[in-house]
This record gives sequence, C-alpha cells and structure tokens, in this order.
Amino acid sequence: MTRLTHTLALVGLLCGVLSAWPVIARITSPNLLNVKRLEAVKLSSRGPNAEEAVAPPRVKNITFANPKASQFFVDGTTIPEVNFDVGPSWAGLIPISAAPDESRKLFFWFFPPGLEGSLDDLIFWTNGGPGYSSLEGLLKENGPFLWGPGQARPTQNEYSWTNLSSVLYVEQPVGTGYSQGTPDAKNENDVAAQLVGFLQQFLEIFSELKGKKFYFSGESQYAGMYIPYIANFIFENTRSTLDLDLQGLWMNDPVLSWDIVHRQIPAVDFVHKYEHVFAFNHTFLAQLDSVATMCNYSDYMAKHVTYPPQGLLPLPGASTDIDLACEAWDVIIGAAQLINPAFNIYHVLDTSVLWDVWGFPVSAQDTLVYYDRADVKGVIHAPLTVDWELSNFDGPDVFPDGDVSLPPAFTVLPNGIEKSKRSVIVHGLADFILIAKGTRIVLQNFQVAGMQGFREPLLNDSFIVDGVGALGKMQSERGLTYVEISLAGHQVPGYSPVASLQVMK
Ligand SMILES: *[C@@H]1O[C@H](CO)[C@@H](O)[C@H](O)[C@H]1NC(C)=O
Ligand SMILES: *[C@@H]1O[C@H](CO)[C@@H](O)[C@H](O)[C@H]1NC(C)=O
Ligand SMILES: *[C@@H]1O[C@H](CO)[C@@H](O)[C@H](O)[C@H]1NC(C)=O
Ligand SMILES: *[C@@H]1O[C@H](CO)[C@@H](O)[C@H](O)[C@H]1NC(C)=O
Ligand SMILES: *[C@@H]1O[C@H](CO)[C@@H](O)[C@H](O)[C@H]1NC(C)=O
Repeated sequence: MTRLTHTLALVGLLCGVLSAWPVIARITSPNLLNVKRLEAVKLSSRGPNAEEAVAPPRVKNITFANPKASQFFVDGTTIPEVNFDVGPSWAGLIPISAAPDESRKLFFWFFPPGLEGSLDDLIFWTNGGPGYSSLEGLLKENGPFLWGPGQARPTQNEYSWTNLSSVLYVEQPVGTGYSQGTPDAKNENDVAAQLVGFLQQFLEIFSELKGKKFYFSGESQYAGMYIPYIANFIFENTRSTLDLDLQGLWMNDPVLSWDIVHRQIPAVDFVHKYEHVFAFNHTFLAQLDSVATMCNYSDYMAKHVTYPPQGLLPLPGASTDIDLACEAWDVIIGAAQLINPAFNIYHVLDTSVLWDVWGFPVSAQDTLVYYDRADVKGVIHAPLTVDWELSNFDGPDVFPDGDVSLPPAFTVLPNGIEKSKRSVIVHGLADFILIAKGTRIVLQNFQVAGMQGFREPLLNDSFIVDGVGALGKMQSERGLTYVEISLAGHQVPGYSPVASLQVMK
C-alpha cells in the first residue's frame, strides 16, 4: 500500500465510524476530478475527440457478388466532416417492387458488422413520425459515427449497434427523407407492403444477406405503429416470399395506445417526479393537481396498474377524446416553456440549447442540414434534387388521408410479441413527449400468450448496466422485456448508448 492510499484508507476508516457510506477515499484535487470525469464520459460516449487519431475500423469482411451492389458502395474515407475511416458501407435508392416502371423507391444505408459482430444477424432501424428520417438514428443515436447536439463534428461511436451485427437504416414509408414517389399509404398494411417490397428488391442485390436472423427496431410514436404492424405482416403474409428470419422486435418510446394513456394520465405525476426541474409556482402546481383529481388521473396508477392486473383497465373518462378541461399535457408544455425557454419535451432535463447540426428539436442557429448538403448526397448516392428534411414538414404527408389503423396494442402487437423470440420495449424516463408510465398502463392492459400484463411488478434497481450499476427498472415475462432507463430522453440510444447496446444484445 502506498503512503497516500494508506492515509486515505485511514481517513475513510475514521469517517466510516459515523457514516452510512462504505469507505470511500475523498477526491478533492481538481486533477483527480477531471480524470474521473473523463472516465465517466467514456462510458456514455461517442468515442475519442475529433482531434484524436482514430484507428481504421475493423469490420467483418462482407462482399456482395452481384455487380449491382458496387453502385451503392460508400467509401468510408469520403464522408463529409467525418475525419476518420468509417469503413465500407452501401447506400442508395431501391424500388419497392420489380415493376419496370416502379416510381416508388426507398433510401437505405447499410453497414456491415464490426469485428466482434455477428454475420448471421441483421438489425433494421426506423425512426417514427410518421415521416421522420431513419438517418436521424444513424447520425444521432446508434450508428458507427455520431453527430450529437453540441458536437462540433462527428465522432466515432464506441457503442454503435454495428458492434453487434449488420445494421440497415431505411427511410420509409414513401414520402420520407430522400425516398421517391408519391405517398399513398392509407394504413399500416400499406406501409408494411411497401417495406417488404423494398426488402425483397434489396435482397436480390445484396443476396448474401438472405436468410439472416432479422431484428426489427425503431423509435418513437410511429415506430410503435410501424414495428408491430410490419412484424405482423411479415409473420402472417410473407414468410414464404421474404427471405429473412424475423426473430426480435425493439421499440423505444413508442405509441401503442391512445394519446390520453401515453400523455394525459401520467402528465401531472411526471411533473411531480421532476418538480425541481419544472420549477412551477405553487398556485400552478395546485391547479394541475386539481385537474388530475377531477379527471381521474391522480390515482389511476395506484388503482389500476397492479401486478398482476385485475381485469381490463378503464379509461379515466367516458371516451378516448380529451375534454379541454382535462388537457394537462399541453398546458404543462406551455408553462414549462415560459420558465425554461430551452424546455425540451424529448428530454426535460435540458436547460440550455446546444448548437446542433440538425437545428432540431430547438433551433439555435441557421445551419445547412447535413443530409441536405450536395457533397453528402453525392457520397451516399442520394438524389441531388431532393431537399432533404428530417421530417417532411413541408412535403405531402406520408399518409395523405391519415392512417386508419388502430393503435397496435388493440390489434397486432400481441401476435408480433408471441411470434418473435424476444421483444423489447424501452422507455427513457426523462421523455415527456411520450411518458413511461403511459407505456406501463398499456403493458398491463393486453394479453400475451393467453395472459394479461406482467404478473410481477418492476422492482427498484432492477435494470443494471455493466460498469455503471442500477439505471432504472425492468421486467421480462413471456417473451416481452420492458426497460425504463433513468435520465434518458426520447432518443434513447443517443442519450443512453451503453444501456441501449446492452439491451439490444
Ligand atoms: C474478403 O472476402 C473476399 C471474398 O470472400 C476475398 O476475396 C477477400 O480477399 C477478402 N478480403 C479480406 C481483407 O480478407
Ligand atoms: C465497438 O467496436 C469498436 C470498433 O471495433 C471498438 O473500438 C469498441 O470498443 C466496441 N465497443 C464495445 C462496447 O465493444
Ligand atoms: C371520473 O370517474 C368517475 C367515476 O368512475 C366518473 O363518474 C367521472 O365522470 C370521471 N370524470 C371524468 C372527468 O371523466
Ligand atoms: C404561475 O404559473 C402559471 C403558469 O405558467 C402562470 O400563469 C402564473 O402567472 C404563475 N403565477 C405566479 C405567481 O408566478
Ligand atoms: C422503491 O423506491 C421508492 C422510492 O423511489 C420507495 O418509495 C419504495 O419503497 C421502494 N420499493 C421497495 C420495494 O423497496
């Protein structure tokens, strides 16, 4: 034992007599604090600083025999602003059918697995919306290089999902991102048919990927619709025509049920949980409490969300429509923005707006959006004529007449879970656009494998992240795993990369 540690241990021992804490050496020197901070940052990040030399990526040797594949090849040394070699990838537009005059094409970017990843597996990723580009997930959440808020340039992602297997990002349905054609989807089966058509054409070119174990993942409101419906479509209709072996589903922060369930019932409870973050005045808090009481929100969880559930869970009022007097979620957002102009419904802990290459969700600057740059489009074989937008704010809706499909909890989600080997639903606990407790309500209200809801409760500290410790709660029963991650915002793999990679495994 060196003299220093000896002394520290002794101090710790003396303190230990009076303290409930285990013996911990005190860290007071700024240098030591900085060393600790850098160690911690490594655990949540984004790899080396842009200035540090980055070793060339080591990826599994994957080659495609079809000469058409080479038209899609992306040279990993040429991606604008990325100052390291990302390794080989493939990107471009592929039609959704074999018809020679097919005008509808989806844009994809495919990455092979890292050295320790599996060549037997293929992960599919989609963002939600509807109409949000999946290239957001690639560059901000789980891709091999990330350009997150506050970063001056992209950096390598130590926790890329390519560490696990190949990953395929697709901008879907028609009307999203660089994808081509006139949107005409009327429901989720139309979306599923488009995507399956695309995948069939994709596999004709990249036929080495045929037969892979397939994991269908995505985020947000609309991934909650897309993933169960497309999975159901694949299980029920295309087992013989789509040469992929669908094994698992991942949805983070999805919509599975009505707005009133995901947003209104848990809104005031959420404010109390983060009372010091919202910093509302007492009069307003009292008003919120009286709305919650009047509208049957305040005791909803205690009364109805039991483990196991006692029968079907009721709506708090007469219908799924929200009475103006019972509108809590919108009112809270308005009040929060008044106090904290940086209020971010996707991650309520924010108190400042960082520079962001996307100018989203809050725009602090005018930037040319990365994917709208001609040099970026050139490298990834994207159409130069498309004004790329993260969401088609200005373009036609991807569902021109709306989406008539019902929320999946009442329709296809149970089948998708039952037919998959593993389904995962993840929720960031600092997300207010969709609230974790709403998802808990949904999960206690539908049947999987002949039984309703989880039988056992989510225990404190039940979600343990390697090298970090407890970071939330989880429960796993009958093929469905549900995880709540502390501090994570809506874009969970971006906010909580280590935890997300671990859950995805
Ligand atoms: C990758 O695989 C191809 C085809 O199997 C082979 O020709 C090539 O030499 C391999 N490259 C490396 C770097 O192993
Ligand atoms: C992921 O792969 C990269 C590149 O090979 C490697 O540097 C990194 O340590 C891997 N991350 C994990 C969590 O294994
Ligand atoms: C709350 O529940 C009670 C009893 O179930 C019901 O009579 C009442 O209408 C509900 N309140 C609202 C605002 O829906
Ligand atoms: C309390 O907050 C509410 C909602 O933002 C606001 O309308 C009201 O003026 C505030 N009252 C005080 C005393 O700050
Ligand atoms: C779980 O933690 C909460 C505080 O967050 C506490 O009130 C509750 O008693 C704990 N539950 C158990 C079973 O320890």
